[in-house]
Amino acid sequence: MLFLQLLLLSVVLPGSFNAEVIHGYTTFRLIQISHYANESWAQTWGSGWLDELQTHGWDSESGTIIFLHTWSKGNFSNEELTDLELLIRVYLIGVTQEIHTYTKDLGFKYPFELQVTFGCELSSRESFKGFTQAAVEGSDFLSLQNTSWVPSPGGGNLAQKACDLLNQYEGIKETVESLMSKTCPRFLLGILDAGKMYLQRQVRPEAWLSSSSIVGSGRLVLVCHVSGFYPKPIWVMWMRGEQEQVDSKRDDVLPNADGTWYVRVILEVKAEDAAGLSCRVKHSSLGDQDLILYWEHSLSMNLILALIMPLILLIVLVLWCKKRWSYRYIP
Ligand SMILES: *[C@@H]1O[C@H](CO)[C@@H](O)[C@H](O)[C@H]1NC(C)=O
Ligand SMILES: *[C@@H]1O[C@H](CO)[C@@H](O)[C@H](O)[C@H]1NC(C)=O
Repeated sequence: MLFLQLLLLSVVLPGSFNAEVIHGYTTFRLIQISHYANESWAQTWGSGWLDELQTHGWDSESGTIIFLHTWSKGNFSNEELTDLELLIRVYLIGVTQEIHTYTKDLGFKYPFELQVTFGCELSSRESFKGFTQAAVEGSDFLSLQNTSWVPSPGGGNLAQKACDLLNQYEGIKETVESLMSKTCPRFLLGILDAGKMYLQRQVRPEAWLSSSSIVGSGRLVLVCHVSGFYPKPIWVMWMRGEQEQVDSKRDDVLPNADGTWYVRVILEVKAEDAAGLSCRVKHSSLGDQDLILYWEHSLSMNLILALIMPLILLIVLVLWCKKRWSYRYIP
């Protein structure tokens, strides 16, 4: 509920735009994944991310940015975006050629994967931390620290060699630093502002229960599924009355294709103990109205209906008869 209070605060204090309140979105990053197949062939995938939310793609055929949301341009002008697109295109062509050229010297062996991540993080109010890191074959290789390229601890001699090489190019370092410390924070604040409506939306979860029995053990695995909610923070727990069942096991929160989230919480119980359990869900979209699903609820619901329906019929019948009699005996 803390972020709700923060949200309120940002409404109460207009003008004090604080990106931290936008559901904890704090980081913008570009990711490059390049597959070097042989001396003459490499393929690159590029993407842009606001924390775990993909905001941009890269069309490597045409060398253009793909804007995945209407607000993915933030507040940058088309002119500035075209300049950035050109910069990325030149960088990708350059880096691919250079790596082909230095593959032997650096001791890389085809085929190999290169991963580069570049971006900035809002570390506290108005203060940003930039980062640029590269990994080869899935292991950290080097990063830009302060004003020089530094090999990662596991990068060994190869990473040292690559850093020595890179550190000779002052121009590249300056460009990367300026992008990291100036352009990226400006862009991040811009898309947080432009995407506010989308990023702050509230989507209610749906929940359902399922179970399976563990053969021969007399035990049940109860699963509470909660899906389709946004934003990500959620509380889900198996309960007995007001008692939280501490043996509940919660899986990772997983993304749905539509940008909402899914999670399941599992409880293993003796079959005879299952009655009386419920799954309780708290989420910002629900306000104070927790979502509660009762185990065997549908069964008891049918039972209630089976008892109540004849009762209702009886009442209707009595009322009807009474009405007829009262007509008959009016003098
Ligand atoms: C390089 O790899 C690509 C993709 O796997 C392949 O199509 C091409 O024939 C290879 N070229 C050489 C010279 O091995
Ligand atoms: C975009 O918004 C950011 C943050 O509010 C601001 O610093 C910047 O000047 C704005 N304009 C451009 C073109 O970046």
